[in-house]
Amino acid sequence: MRKHTTLYLYELAWMLPSVALPVGMLAALAVTAFGAHIGLPGEAGRVDPAAVMQTAPFNQPGVVEVAPGRYEAHLVAGIWFFLPAEIRVPEGSEVTFVATSKDVIHGFLLRTANINAMLLPGQVTRVTARFDRVGTYPFLCHEYCGIAHHTMWGKVIVEPRS
Ligand code: CUA
Repeated sequence: MRKHTTLYLYELAWMLPSVALPVGMLAALAVTAFGAHIGLPGEAGRVDPAAVMQTAPFNQPGVVEVAPGRYEAHLVAGIWFFLPAEIRVPEGSEVTFVATSKDVIHGFLLRTANINAMLLPGQVTRVTARFDRVGTYPFLCHEYCGIAHHTMWGKVIVEPRS
């Protein structure tokens, strides 16, 4: 009888964490998603992949100031480039990257700003990050897109406010 009880407790000791762990993770997910607003880059519209370079805002790749301290970077990915490959903003800026691909699936990884997004032909990706510190922040394509995939990168240059 005593042996039976011991076994049961031993099993319970394993069962409780196996329930608590997924429940805890689900709670953490809810807190980060709804409390801290941390989420996956969303699909922000569609664009004809064959006419990307003729479609606004991608017909004018570059950075525009949309409000004081807030910028939009219109970014086109293609084999094997980012257009523009260099994005300049002043320190303390909030930058929303509005990006798409004009040919195959590319990636957009900017680790220092915690950005990890896919750029799909036909789909617009929007992702926002803050750049509070002066410096150069490289971004790169992290979806294999062909023979020169490894050359596909660019940088965000955060300049001091004068
Ligand atoms: Cu583009 Cu890899």
